[in-house]
Amino acid sequence: MPTRYVLTGVAAATMQGSDGGYGLIADAAVVVRDGLVDWVGPARDLPADHAALERLDQGGRLLTPALIDCHTHVVHGGNRAREFEMRLTGASYAEIARAGGGIVSTVTATRAASEAQLLQAALPRVDALIAQGVATVEIKSGYGLDIDTELRMLRVARQIADMRPIRVLTSFLGAHAVPAGQDPDTYIDQVCLPALSAAHAEGLVDAVDGFCEGIAFSAAQIARVFDRAAALGLPVKLHAEQLSHQGGAALAARHGALSADHLEYATAADAAALAASGTVAVILPGAFYTIHETRQPPVQAFRDHGVPMAVATDWNPGSSPLGSILLAMNMACTLFRLTPAEALAGATRHAARALGLNDCGRIAPGLRADLAIWDVTDPAELSYGIGINPLHHRIFGGRA
Ligand code: NIG
Ligand code: FE
Repeated sequence: MPTRYVLTGVAAATMQGSDGGYGLIADAAVVVRDGLVDWVGPARDLPADHAALERLDQGGRLLTPALIDCHTHVVHGGNRAREFEMRLTGASYAEIARAGGGIVSTVTATRAASEAQLLQAALPRVDALIAQGVATVEIKSGYGLDIDTELRMLRVARQIADMRPIRVLTSFLGAHAVPAGQDPDTYIDQVCLPALSAAHAEGLVDAVDGFCEGIAFSAAQIARVFDRAAALGLPVKLHAEQLSHQGGAALAARHGALSADHLEYATAADAAALAASGTVAVILPGAFYTIHETRQPPVQAFRDHGVPMAVATDWNPGSSPLGSILLAMNMACTLFRLTPAEALAGATRHAARALGLNDCGRIAPGLRADLAIWDVTDPAELSYGIGINPLHHRIFGGRA
């Protein structure tokens, strides 16, 4: 593919609409230059100075921003198929965690894995996302819970960006679970905070995350991690109100978090607080589905307060072994009644914002040419299909 070209024969969902919709341009042209979008608009308005560029006709297909999976745990060892079976016979996610399964069991498998083994296990997961048009993925640590393994996970996440055509944003999730037999406050002081500082010193951390929950850390404990993040100049995000209401969403809002994620037990007051702080609500229907949750996130309150909603896979071996961003979009629609336009904005425009990025997630001049071309005509088809991947072609940084 040349470094300067015009995509023609596309319907472009720019995700730029001021109404939060697709921002659809029916017969569009998109000029790509040096990895960025240079111009986008109706083909008939293509400026004369671009008319001589090579035209790559896409046969009437749909063009969208490349997808962004803004919440994953794809670097991990082992699997938790046994827990899947246990839940089918009635054990809850929280009961399994309290009995020593759950996150802590993945910690054992991850600690036992070498850097090379973690990388080999993660690459096929990342490849599966790339094959669905994903160009940016967030990857968390949090299955080490010791300094060495937390750093190893983050190094693997960084290596993925060298080995595959994908952008990786890392989140330090040292406050994910309390290691067996340890006191949570002692763990935060002696392991989590030193690991965060060490990982930051190595340039391994783009954001700091935590799990605020009865089976994990209290809001006061997470606040101490967020204070360290602020001292290091790092943005924060939080797994909040997933299994119960713990005050995590309000805490995230008070700290100006990029995102609060899960939020099944969030309230209308939480929605107001997230709106005021400009925090994105990340909807994770794969976890809701997998752990047989029945309480839905307050989607209408998010809409009413103008909280941007992102949608992500939460791909992890326990609560969301979901390797499909398209299926996450479908689930967000069918389980939580997002509109297909909200679901696509959730995996593009608002996902970028959940990662603190403003150079992707929309099709606009000056933004990265991370684009997806789909064998569909109506953008709602991306959310409507179940287990169907209509990706025709992905463009990453202007390159096919
Ligand atoms: O996003 N909620 C906490 N963390 C993960 C679960 C990780 C696991 O079960 O291994 C989540 O759902
Ligand atoms: Fe998660």
